[in-house]
Amino acid sequence: MEKDLDINDNGILLDVKNLTIGIKGRKKDLILVENFSIEVRRGQVVAMAGESGCGKSMVCKGLLGILPDGIEILSGSIIYNGKEIKTEKDLKEIRGKDVNMIFQEPVSALHPLKKIGRQIGEGLKIHSKFNDQDIKNKVLQVMKSVGINNPQKRYNQYPHQLSGGLCQRVVIAMAIINNPKLIIADEPTTSLDVTVQAKILKLLKDLNREKKTSIIFVSHDLAVLSQIGERINIMYCGEIVEENSTKEIFTNPKHPYTKDLLSSIPEIGKEYLRPIRGSVPIPEEYPVLCKYKDRCEEKFCSCESIKPKLVEVKDGKVRCLKFE
Ligand SMILES: Nc1ncnc2c1ncn2[C@@H]1O[C@H](COP(=O)(O)OP(=O)(O)OP(=O)(O)O)[C@@H](O)[C@H]1O
Ligand SMILES: [Mg+2]
Repeated sequence: MEKDLDINDNGILLDVKNLTIGIKGRKKDLILVENFSIEVRRGQVVAMAGESGCGKSMVCKGLLGILPDGIEILSGSIIYNGKEIKTEKDLKEIRGKDVNMIFQEPVSALHPLKKIGRQIGEGLKIHSKFNDQDIKNKVLQVMKSVGINNPQKRYNQYPHQLSGGLCQRVVIAMAIINNPKLIIADEPTTSLDVTVQAKILKLLKDLNREKKTSIIFVSHDLAVLSQIGERINIMYCGEIVEENSTKEIFTNPKHPYTKDLLSSIPEIGKEYLRPIRGSVPIPEEYPVLCKYKDRCEEKFCSCESIKPKLVEVKDGKVRCLKFE
């Protein structure tokens, strides 16, 4: 097999260890994401799931160095392709070239007043030495590859002239034009209707298979993740509570939160949905110890006094005292 000289021998493209993200306070920091670790290998699709507000987007933004004002990485390390990312300059070097992001709202990710062909070509203009004609040809080719029909005509249109599904294809074209090694897709199909959703998922899967692009795929929808992720990280209140292969998560979930998420998936023919009781607390009110204990139906007395650690189980990890 051809050896990729770019990638380390161990095949790990992104290695994030104990990333903590939050807002620095005078007395106490407000923690939004705590000790988050993830490993992404070349050509792997790693998924992240969890209810709204559990910190999925914060992680994505932290990995790309685009956190909102006032929110920062408080500790931890990001190793990309064997090199530790320490500064804004390190991040700039890989962002837009090696690592790209696809956001939830395709329309707001696009500039309303720029023709889409130009927007797609921008990454290439910044990161390569192609001339304008070469860039245009490459843009048309990429537009075609993401299933945009009649690219010549679409090239000169503005975002408002395109449907949501087409806009997301444009965003994906922008994200892949530089052949990135990693794409961070944060709820890329959530705002689209189901048939378009399926097409976009297929597009990302093909991209992963054909170009070996690694993908971090974020969704609150486990049903979507079952179709794309090789491994799944379940997040709750800014922490990973379970990590395992997609198969194991679906057939043998261990954390009570994972089980509850699975039983709240709507299915055709299912008479009753079982929503999880209560709701995700705000970061100011994250419980100490186990963050899920107040909603957990399996809690026992030790949960009131011991903080669970992320411990190894068959093929993965879980953060629940029942496994310690
Ligand atoms: N600019 C901000 N300042 C302070 N807190 C914020 C800010 N943006 C988000 N948060 C808080 O950080 C936590 C994590 O938010 P995040 O957007 O990462 O959640 P999420 O898992 O992506 O949710 P969703 O599924 O709705 O996209 C939430 O409690 C949110 O309220
Ligand atoms: Mg989000």
